[in-house]
Amino acid sequence: MRKPTEDVKIFADRRKRVASDLQGSALVVAAHPEHIRNHDVGFPYRQDSNFYYLTGFEEPESILVIRPGMTPETVMFVRQRDKERETWDGFRYGPEGVEQHFKVDKAYPIDEFLVHAPKLLKEVDQVYYRMFKNEHADELMKQCLEKVRLMQGRTGYGLLSIHDADTLLGEYRLVKSEIELNNLREACEISAQAHLAAMRFTRPGVTERQVQGVLSHHFYMKGASREGYNHIVASGNAATTLHYNFNDQKCKDGDLLLIDAGAEYNYFTGDITRTFPVNGKFTEEQARVYQGVLDVQKQIIAYVKPGIVFKELHEMGTSLLTDLMLELGLLSGRKDDIISALQHKKYYPHGIGHWLGMDVHDAGLYFKKGNPRAIEVNMCFTVEPGLYIPADDTSAPQKYRGIGIRIEDNIRVTSQGSENMTTSAPKEIADIEKVVGT
Ligand code: GLY
Ligand code: MN
Ligand code: MN
Repeated sequence: MRKPTEDVKIFADRRKRVASDLQGSALVVAAHPEHIRNHDVGFPYRQDSNFYYLTGFEEPESILVIRPGMTPETVMFVRQRDKERETWDGFRYGPEGVEQHFKVDKAYPIDEFLVHAPKLLKEVDQVYYRMFKNEHADELMKQCLEKVRLMQGRTGYGLLSIHDADTLLGEYRLVKSEIELNNLREACEISAQAHLAAMRFTRPGVTERQVQGVLSHHFYMKGASREGYNHIVASGNAATTLHYNFNDQKCKDGDLLLIDAGAEYNYFTGDITRTFPVNGKFTEEQARVYQGVLDVQKQIIAYVKPGIVFKELHEMGTSLLTDLMLELGLLSGRKDDIISALQHKKYYPHGIGHWLGMDVHDAGLYFKKGNPRAIEVNMCFTVEPGLYIPADDTSAPQKYRGIGIRIEDNIRVTSQGSENMTTSAPKEIADIEKVVGT
């Protein structure tokens, strides 16, 4: 039997917290759709983060309904047990098993969704549901809402209004609890140690794929459940391609290697980037660009504290990196003009970071009612400035061409400033030079 990886009370408590804020409404959350099978060979399944957040249940074809204050309050629709399918695809809890093991009030077979769900939803004022993530669930919801409408007849009730469930749940996920922080810290530490192992392994002649193997090996040996996203292991000029993940070159003497990799642990993921010399020694030019990016990163992290807004961090990143581009002779002119014409995007085309948690680009709004929101204690995010100078960019000084650098750490907001959860991966030049190839 596939046991929940964490105490099911954690999930029941989260449901209670959401329910206490939603009197009069219902929340409906669908599991992640099953992956399309290719020649009968499945891809690994990962539960939808919101569904997992509220249930701890990892099977597809499931729907959760919460009706605050009503009986039953929490209902799950899940797959029936099926001896033959279980022989192929593995254990299913079935409705009885779900009632017994997941602390929900009632569980029904998913095939009976349209029998029970309309009755469950007919007395609420509004429904929170995320459209367009799961076609099959959308279709069931459409039919269910139509049944509710028909049941209401001429009672005087209006149509149920639908609000976005992911926006709602993002607010809960954005500020992390102690339990969530422990999972995230573990994901960060596994990821950071894997980066350290990858640095130690790297030397001229190893392949990017071998380095990727070292990262994955470390992840799984330390208890990660999967890779948080597609790993980027990009040597030399490949580092200037932001989403490079061919990872199929040999690492050459004299080149830098950029690794963006993070492990997932209990549905929380780390997201670390390190850039270091393949042969263990930065050239003068590499060191100059690297130290510039590192100084920017450290200044931004030092600025983090409750009350600031994320947009300020973006603007700081743009401003400081544009200073660096001017210093290095990559751009010329007045800084304000460069920024307003977005010329800095030629070498720094992405943002300074993003919320981090169950998803690598985690849930939660950056703006509320049109205004940037203030950062609060226990929000977590990445800080990841970078500079990417393509080898064929003839307008850049020759000595910097082919250098791509990003440095990414995972930060938690504290009452006084911030905690960096990824310090086990070296980033100072001297510390990196001590470990590469050892
Ligand atoms: N690894 C994805 C990102 O840094 O946003
Ligand atoms: Mn990131
Ligand atoms: Mn990253």
